Amino acid sequence: MRFVLATNNVEKVAEIRDIFSGSILELISLDELGTQPKMEETKETFLENAYQKATAIMEYFNMPAMADDSGLEVDALDGSPGVLSKRYSGINASDRENNQKLIGELSDISKENRSARFKTAAVCVFVDGKRVEAEGVLDGKIILDERGDSGFGYDPFFVPNGHDLTLAQMSLVMKNSISHRGKAFRALRKVLEREI
Ligand code: IMP
Repeated sequence: MRFVLATNNVEKVAEIRDIFSGSILELISLDELGTQPKMEETKETFLENAYQKATAIMEYFNMPAMADDSGLEVDALDGSPGVLSKRYSGINASDRENNQKLIGELSDISKENRSARFKTAAVCVFVDGKRVEAEGVLDGKIILDERGDSGFGYDPFFVPNGHDLTLAQMSLVMKNSISHRGKAFRALRKVLEREI
């Protein structure tokens, strides 16, 4: 069975494809379909945003669609940037601009108080309206000096608990084995493979 992956983020496509390698479920990217329909994220939770993106793509292509919505919650910032992670420093902000804002806000906060977590809601929406969902969390700490150049987003500033490397210093396989997105999509894969 073929699913459209509702994201324009090429790093996410690579991570999710790795998680579904060897599966009977085939993932098709928007790039491969040659069109990039507009997807909004206007809701207040990761789960609602993920459903909003998957539903838009399912309706556009009339095919089952998968999406995730993810973000970073920093305790010292009362859970920000949260659902605004992508546009933390402005509507078309780059990862660098978002990271600069984050580090600026945490510069006076001690290392012990820079606890944070990544969260992912991963969902699948079928043409008949059936919906499947799963969530994943990765706890860690924010560092103030960036390390590593793999991954994307806040990866160079995030050290998962129990590790010394940032996510940006890990291989894709290593990141996927512990990450919020890895956990959420592995759980989603299990449910989908059982039901299909
Ligand atoms: P979205 O799920 O595409 O809306 O992602 C929101 C934003 O959260 C991204 O643009 C990144 O800034 C951040 N983010 C989500 N997942 C990750 C991750 O695995 N590593 C680093 N940043 C992430």
